[in-house]
Amino acid sequence: MGEFVLHINDSHLRVTAAPEESLLSVLRDHLKLTGTHYGCGEGQCGACTVLLDGVASRSCLMPVGGVGDTHIVTIEGLEQNGRLTPVQQAFLDEGAFQCGYCTSGMVLSAVSLLRQTPHPTDQQIFASMNGNICRCGTYPRILAAIRRAANGATQ
Ligand code: FES
Ligand code: FES
Repeated sequence: MGEFVLHINDSHLRVTAAPEESLLSVLRDHLKLTGTHYGCGEGQCGACTVLLDGVASRSCLMPVGGVGDTHIVTIEGLEQNGRLTPVQQAFLDEGAFQCGYCTSGMVLSAVSLLRQTPHPTDQQIFASMNGNICRCGTYPRILAAIRRAANGATQ
């Protein structure tokens, strides 16, 4: 076991965990940040996506011992001063979810995409979101939401 100070959502949080424990497990089980979801545990579904220094990353594959002072943003830390980001608002406006299990990962992947490519083509959206699975099949609405956010403000 080791003690780690994680930089999460603009706070520094101390946890005790085995270094090989996944960041996903630490977020959910130690810190109760349960908006980050467990899907496959193998890097294949995107349900566990968080931002690491602004880049969408699979927290199920990241051992907590390797995180260091990387700034982690989970879905709980995305809004600013109680205001949803344009991507969150666009998902709401387009009704881009059914059960919502994939949604936090979808939103964070879309935020990462739009920070790097503010006005992506549909092909760029498909390529970037390819690793995020929606079992409810809401892909057309997710695409519409990302297009809507891309036409809005900075992320
Ligand atoms: S739970 Fe991490 S990619 Fe599926
Ligand atoms: S809304 Fe159900 S998995 Fe995507």
